[in-house]
Amino acid sequence: MIKITEPEYRLMKKYIEQNCGIHLEDGKEYLIESRLSDLVAETQCNSFQEFHLKARTDSNGKLRERIIDAMTTNETLWFRDESAWAYLKEVAVPSLLDKAGRAGRARVWSAAASTGQEAYSLLMLIADEAKKRGTPSLLDKIEILGTDISSSALFLAISARYDSIAMGRGMSEDKRQKYFTQNGNIWVFDQELKKKVHFKRFNLQSSFAAIGVFDLVMCRYVSIYFSTDFKRELFEKIAGVLTPGGVLLLGASESLRDLSDKFEVFYHNKAVINIKK
Ligand SMILES: C[S@@+](CC[C@H](N)C(=O)[O-])C[C@H]1O[C@@H](n2cnc3c(N)ncnc32)[C@H](O)[C@@H]1O
Repeated sequence: MIKITEPEYRLMKKYIEQNCGIHLEDGKEYLIESRLSDLVAETQCNSFQEFHLKARTDSNGKLRERIIDAMTTNETLWFRDESAWAYLKEVAVPSLLDKAGRAGRARVWSAAASTGQEAYSLLMLIADEAKKRGTPSLLDKIEILGTDISSSALFLAISARYDSIAMGRGMSEDKRQKYFTQNGNIWVFDQELKKKVHFKRFNLQSSFAAIGVFDLVMCRYVSIYFSTDFKRELFEKIAGVLTPGGVLLLGASESLRDLSDKFEVFYHNKAVINIKK
């Protein structure tokens, strides 16, 4: 492993925060060393200082992309947090289908989609509910956008192919049988259904001006990596793309407290639901 010095740590920490918003506290030198040492060696740099210079002068953005890929934590699972998914199943999905029937369209954004489990979990619930109501065509009137900054995570999301470790994390036997086909050690998500989710690379630091308006934004387990200032900015931007009454769902360890006054907080059993005022 290539050692990082204190001045090099400050340079790399700033570079990472500027390029993806991830805020590293002091004392996280080991994180940069363990995640980036191979890339430093691969790019034939002898030190993190040299690597930083190479990254800053990277003309096509490829090295930046690989640094971001290495520094992001893509940990995810199917139907993550029982209480949040009970809310989605019992309240959010029925109201999305109602809106799609009434207005002809409803939109959802999985804003840190990682390898796709969150967006496809929601899609399965929507498909089940639409079928139960006898209105499967309503599915075509719901748009699900999945975005992430990590190209490698998005590649897996778009392929919609999962190994048995990923499948073992939150996928029920019933849904596995219904929505996946097994191909050796790989489980392939329904190839027709998967087309309903559109994935694209998007940095939450960017302007949201061209992203459109949503009825539900799932921005889960990503703000934990950001500074307080960036969290404020992010929640302000999310409030700006939600319809009045639209819902922001955060991870169970995340909260809007002291960060935004644009939402009213409700509870659905243990799930915290942030509704745009
Ligand atoms: C821990 S995963 C959470 C995945 C999923 N939302 C869930 O709750 O299971 C966090 C994701 O946020 C993405 N991420 C980190 N910084 C980002 C940024 N600035 N813009 C967009 N995505 C980002 C990472 O690439 C990673 O896939």
